[in-house]
Amino acid sequence: MSALLELQGVWAGYGGSDVLRDLTFSVPAGSVTCVVGPNGAGKSTILRVVSGQVTPRKGTVTFEGKRISGLNPRQILGLGIVQVAQSHSLFPDMTVRENVEMGGFLLRDRAEVARRLRQIEDLFPIVVDRAEDKAGALSGGQQRLVEFARCLMLDPKLVVLDEPSMGLDPKTLKNVLQQVRTMWEDGRTILLVEQNVRAGLSLATRAVVVESGQVRLEGTGSEVNSNPEIAHLYLGGGTASAAVPASD
Ligand SMILES: Nc1ncnc2c1ncn2[C@@H]1O[C@H](COP(=O)(O)OP(=O)(O)O)[C@@H](O)[C@H]1O
Ligand SMILES: [Mg+2]
Repeated sequence: MSALLELQGVWAGYGGSDVLRDLTFSVPAGSVTCVVGPNGAGKSTILRVVSGQVTPRKGTVTFEGKRISGLNPRQILGLGIVQVAQSHSLFPDMTVRENVEMGGFLLRDRAEVARRLRQIEDLFPIVVDRAEDKAGALSGGQQRLVEFARCLMLDPKLVVLDEPSMGLDPKTLKNVLQQVRTMWEDGRTILLVEQNVRAGLSLATRAVVVESGQVRLEGTGSEVNSNPEIAHLYLGGGTASAAVPASD
């Protein structure tokens, strides 16, 4: 698989101190690439570098072979990289449908907004079932699904997710990660950070372990999953079993 996104020797951080230190990895086109690692390792910072909220001090980020480091978030969004905000990003007093339509804010053509909304309704039943309900009336997990649906309005090539399962009970987590798989099957490349390592790796086609702002290990989801050291560090010993069943 060729790389859709590449980070090459990236140094980046906040206020003059580096969090990412010579970080290099790539996100293959058509992959679900999952970044795992301890708290404070720099995972969210990686995603901020990708979406343009943090500019690297050194190194480059390329998307479809073109350099994007140095571009602003709006420009990066326009290229087809959409990051779903960590949580509570819906307008609670607007309906579910209105929230999803808002995702198409960069689109001028109303007919195009309507066309995409219909496609998204096919992928996310909740957008139909709860269309007229206020977003604020939904559970945390349901709101997460509407956030996913909204991000698809821009027809992104790369969907960036920071800990999509955060704060969800196990059943809702499974449903939310299934919908990540749905977005992937719909043709999106996914870059996600997941603190639920078992669930994240079971979904991933590619996994990157980050520690102290550097890549510690990179491989297929199952390679990382079955690495004894990683199992010991992050999975409480033993290797992970699939928390999300593979689709057939
Ligand atoms: N906005 C910020 N300003 C200053 N330091 C930050 C900011 N965001 C994160 N950091 C610091 O950068 C380091 C990495 O943070 P982060 O990328 O959020 O890690 P992770 O997502 O892996 O938990 C941490 O030490 C954190 O305190
Ligand atoms: Mg984080």
